[in-house]
Amino acid sequence: MSPYKAVETEDKSSDVVWHQASVSHNDRVKAHDHRPAVLWFTGLSGSGKSTVANAVDKMLHDLGCKTYLLDGDNVRHGLNGDLGFSDSDRVENIRRIGEVSKLFVDAGLLVSTAFISPFAADREMVRSQLTAEQFIEVFIDTPIEVCEQRDPKGLYKKARAGEIKNFTGIDSAYELPSQPEVHVKTAEQSVEACAMQVVQYLQDKGYLKAALSSI
Ligand code: ADX
Repeated sequence: MSPYKAVETEDKSSDVVWHQASVSHNDRVKAHDHRPAVLWFTGLSGSGKSTVANAVDKMLHDLGCKTYLLDGDNVRHGLNGDLGFSDSDRVENIRRIGEVSKLFVDAGLLVSTAFISPFAADREMVRSQLTAEQFIEVFIDTPIEVCEQRDPKGLYKKARAGEIKNFTGIDSAYELPSQPEVHVKTAEQSVEACAMQVVQYLQDKGYLKAALSSI
């Protein structure tokens, strides 16, 4: 049976039927020493999503987990290279990443995604496509003043100067997660401590079989 909810589009042919693969999701899960999930990092530009997600990915990889990292800036060079930063393009950006994440989870991986994903409804839409234990929202909570001070790509400066429109936190909204599974405050602790907080969550909830003490 298709794990997808029916998507109704004008172009979708009724002749497209779900092909059942011989290797099941459970077979794929059993091939790994951990439970699959998407770690959905959300937060402002410059909040540290990519940095912490990258550190988490490395820790999990070192523990022997099968992982993958999807990063907003990188994905926007390829799969989502046709999308900008209007509200509707951001919705489509997250919809596609949700679908890709779902495939990685189906493959049995621990996938980390680092996208601003500013709209709560879009994050909830991705959550609703997965089981409760497969979606872990990680709120990278960094005050905008700190993000703006860091300004690693000089984008806040450009946005303040009016050279970039629809910049999140300035002239485009960021809707705070109301109940994230993990709440990380990057202004108060090191990158390593932030990453460990996420990996510790996985350990505490029984996602990992390998002992954390090995990293
Ligand atoms: S999202 O809002 O659609 O989730 P995404 O995470 O893919 O955003 O991309 C955000 C990255 O694009 C930022 O880290 C920043 O480097 C860059 N960027 C360029 N223009 C904007 C903008 N107007 N608003 C936010 N980020 C932007």
